[in-house]
Amino acid sequence: MSPAGHLGKKKWSHALGSPFDGLVVDLAAQTSSGDLGTTASTLVPRESATSEVRTLLVGVLPDKVSRYNAPSRAESIRRSALAAAATKGKLAIVIVLDSEEHVGAAVMAASRAFPLFSAKSSNKVKDRLKRSVEIVCLDAHGKFLPISQKFQDASAAIRDAAALVDTPPSELHPASFAAAARQSLRGIKGVKITEIVGEDLQKAGLGGIYGVGKGAVVAPRMVVATYAPPAKAKANGPHIALIGKGVTFDTGGLHLKPRGGIEGMKCDMGGAAAMLSAFRLLASQHGSHKVTLILCLAENAIGPASYKPDDILTLHSGKTVEINNTDAEGRLLLADGLSYAVRELKADVVIDAATLTGAQLIATGTMHAAVISNDQVIEEKAVAAGFASGELVHPLIFAPEFYRHEFPSPVADMTNTVANRNNAQSSCAAQFLWWHIEDTNAKWLHIDLAGPAFLRGRGTGFGVGLVTELCERIVSRSKS
Ligand code: BES
Ligand code: MN
Ligand code: MN
Repeated sequence: MSPAGHLGKKKWSHALGSPFDGLVVDLAAQTSSGDLGTTASTLVPRESATSEVRTLLVGVLPDKVSRYNAPSRAESIRRSALAAAATKGKLAIVIVLDSEEHVGAAVMAASRAFPLFSAKSSNKVKDRLKRSVEIVCLDAHGKFLPISQKFQDASAAIRDAAALVDTPPSELHPASFAAAARQSLRGIKGVKITEIVGEDLQKAGLGGIYGVGKGAVVAPRMVVATYAPPAKAKANGPHIALIGKGVTFDTGGLHLKPRGGIEGMKCDMGGAAAMLSAFRLLASQHGSHKVTLILCLAENAIGPASYKPDDILTLHSGKTVEINNTDAEGRLLLADGLSYAVRELKADVVIDAATLTGAQLIATGTMHAAVISNDQVIEEKAVAAGFASGELVHPLIFAPEFYRHEFPSPVADMTNTVANRNNAQSSCAAQFLWWHIEDTNAKWLHIDLAGPAFLRGRGTGFGVGLVTELCERIVSRSKS
């Protein structure tokens, strides 16, 4: 694969050797990239081939991208890799890049084309697709660009996050998710994990997570993992907390989702899966700043013990919420997670990721997550981290004074859903979260990834590269 310009100029193709160099250039010359890249393939004649390569597939990436797209053309790389993934047998992918800076985004994008989870009976290993694929990056002159350990790890972490999303909800419930988190973080130096389960949530003041999850067979819980730098390293940079919405299935609760709206709701833990993987990557870097992971895990189920419309929950902030829609459950979990991170754990920066609103899809679509923040610098860093990682984001409005009145309750501090559904729903949902930390000094970024986390029935691992990159940018700023 390569930007069309370079393929045409034959600059790098010597790196492949004969006869592939000629074949690739000819094939690319006949292929127009279209908006998002195209692939074309040819068989290599047996008599001319000096190796075992039989099929050549060329992906031609677009020469230009808009200013809202990633300069690495990550999405186009993913699409080409998807075409490659549809082939059988041994596979090597050669990615030709404009710039060494794009290696990470390119490798992460290609990784998305190779999901780990499959329950097809043809698999040899239960629930796992096993295929080893070699990825090589070259620059426009054919120079080998090494893929650092960091991006090899990121590739695995993205695929792990996607596999958790893909796992069916009866297998992945709050308890098995917590176990998967422990397994994922096992052996990382400086990491400690605790769990608050079931009624203990209520005792700890976490009435949102408890209320949402208490109707399910498997008890709700909050998993807290902390990475602390070694004692001899002076803490450097802010304490960042990553908070994930982990609703392992969202039926909507007693406000049951309609047919067509409920299918696919195993994806509702996509924020927690992304944060788990991002935390693993950050903790494995053994940085000199504290990082905390908070997974808010619950199933929004229907049963005699389900929370009910008209119930009033007291959240960790001390504020009371009258439930007027049990399907707006994610904000109740996250408000607890955010408040706990700031008040109990004294985090300076809190970032949450959540499949929070269907309205995010209407506002920013499937390719861009929506971000909402009380801090302009962090918001700008998030946009920049999106371009760099290939996991794109677009900011939405943060204006408490315009949205607070959407949640009037005669009997509690607020309701959990808005009065007017046609008034910036994704911003209003974020406003709800903000309410529970507004009296603190926390810097906060909310990532609504309802669209990008789950595409065509598959988890994408969206958020892992973005959040890792963003945290690195936040920390490096505070150093200078
Ligand atoms: N998990 C959903 C949001 C969602 C929708 C994620 C579609 C992925 C795809 C969330 O819990 C929800 O139900 N939100 C409601 C909020 C409403 C009741 C105020 C929504 O967006 O309709
Ligand atoms: Mn819901
Ligand atoms: Mn939900």
